[in-house]
Amino acid sequence: MAATLLARGGGAAARALTFGCLRQLHTVYQTVELPETHQMLCQTCRDFAEKELVPIAAQLDKEHRFPAEQVKKMGALGLLAMDVPEEYKGAGLDYLAYSIAVEEISRGCASTGVIMSVNNSLYLGPILKFGSEEQKHQWIAPFTSGDKIGCFALSEPGNGSDAGAASTVARLDGNEWVLNGTKAWITNAWDASAVVVFATTDKSQKHKGISAFLVPMPTPGLSLGKKEEKLGIRASSTANLIFEDCRIPKANLLGQQGMGFKIAMQTLDSGRIGIASQALGIAQGALDCAVDYAEKRLAFGSPISKLQAIQFKLADMALALEGARLLTWRAAMLKDNGKPYTKEAAMAKLAASEAATAISHQAIQILGGMGYVTEMPAERHYRDARITEIYEGTSEIQRLVIAGQLLKEYRG
Ligand code: CAA
Repeated sequence: MAATLLARGGGAAARALTFGCLRQLHTVYQTVELPETHQMLCQTCRDFAEKELVPIAAQLDKEHRFPAEQVKKMGALGLLAMDVPEEYKGAGLDYLAYSIAVEEISRGCASTGVIMSVNNSLYLGPILKFGSEEQKHQWIAPFTSGDKIGCFALSEPGNGSDAGAASTVARLDGNEWVLNGTKAWITNAWDASAVVVFATTDKSQKHKGISAFLVPMPTPGLSLGKKEEKLGIRASSTANLIFEDCRIPKANLLGQQGMGFKIAMQTLDSGRIGIASQALGIAQGALDCAVDYAEKRLAFGSPISKLQAIQFKLADMALALEGARLLTWRAAMLKDNGKPYTKEAAMAKLAASEAATAISHQAIQILGGMGYVTEMPAERHYRDARITEIYEGTSEIQRLVIAGQLLKEYRG
C-alpha cells in the first residue's frame, strides 16, 4: 500500500507513512474477562481477517465480487453456523462467540461480515428455532460448510419497515404451495442456495396471516432481479426475488401457518445482534486506521496525535465504540441465557450502527485528504457503515422497538 502511495506521488503524508500493520486497539477485551474459548476464537478470527480479508477487501469492493474462496474457508472454521449444534454440523458455540466473530470478520471486510451474519442469523436461525427435525437436517447441514449459503426475504418493494404489510401471497394447491410476489433488498440473493420467505396465506388476518416458507434456489418460478449498485458492502449481493407461480412442497412451510410474522420478528431480534457486531467491526477498523494515521502524520512539528483537537475526536470515537460493544455483548449474553433480549438487541444495533457512522466520519476527518481516496480503507469504512443504520430495521424502527418494550415494562 505504501508503494502505491509513493507511485502516485501522494504527498508528504504518503511518503512518511507505512500502513501495513495496524496496532490492535481492543481495550475492552482487556477490561472484560472473556472465557478462554471466546478469546481463542477472537484471535482465530482476527488472524483470519488479517491474512485472508484485509489484503483483498478493497479489491472485492471495487469489483463487487463475492468472496467465494474466503466464505468456504470460514465454513471450514465453523463461522457460518456458529450457534448450530454439532448434530446439524454447526460449531455449537453461543451468540457471544458469534458476535465476537462477526466483529472480527467485519473489521477485515464488512461485506464478508454481512454474508456471514445473514447465513447465521437470518437463514439458519429461524430453521433451528422453528424447523421440524426433518427440516433441520435438510436445510441446515448443507449450509454450514460454506458450499451453500442462505438468505432471508421479508421486505418488499412496497413495504420495508412495515413488515406486516406483506403482499407476496402463498396459496395451497393440493400438495404444493404456490408463491407469487416480489421480495426486495435480499442480501446474498445472487449467491444463495435457499431462502426463508415470508408470504401471506390469509390477507384478512393481516400480520397473523403471514407464514414462512423454505424455498430452494434456483427453483422454477423464482427469478433474481438485477444486482443493486450500492454505496457500500459491495462484495455482498443484493437483489429482488421474483416469485411467479413458484411451486414448493407443502412440507416446506416453516413453523405453523400464520406464525410467519412472529418468526420474522424473533429472527430479526437475533439478526440485530449480528448487524450490531458488523457495525462494531467497521467502527474498530476506522478507529484503528485513524489512530495509526494520527501517530504517524506530522504537522506543526509533531504527530497530529499530540493535538487536543485530534485527541478529543479519538476519545469520543473510542467511547462510542466501547459503549456499543458492551451493549452488543449484553444482548448476546441475554440471548445465551434464555432471557428476553428484544429491547437490548435493538439498543445494541442502534448504538453500534450510529457509532460506526460517526466514527468512520471522524476517521476521514482525521485522515484529511487521505481519508477521501481509495488508497486508504477509511472511505470504504464510511460507505460500509451507512447501511448498518438501515437494514434489519432502520434506526427509527430500533427506537420504536426500544420505546415499545420500555413502556411495556413500565406498564407491567
Ligand atoms: N418477538 C416476538 N413477537 C413480536 C416481536 C418480537 N420481537 N415484535 C412484535 N411481535 C409480535 C407482537 O407481540 C404482536 O403479537 P400479537 O399479534 O400476538 O399481539 C405482533 O408481533 C405484532 O406486533 P406489532 O403490533 O408491534 O407489529 P407492527 O406491525 O406494529 O410492527 C415493527 C412492529 C417493530 C415496526 C416491525 O414491523 C419491524 O420490526 N419492522 C422492521 C422490519 C425490519 O427490520 N426489516 C428488515 C428486513 S431484513 C433485511 O434487512 C434484509 C437483509 O437481507 C439484511
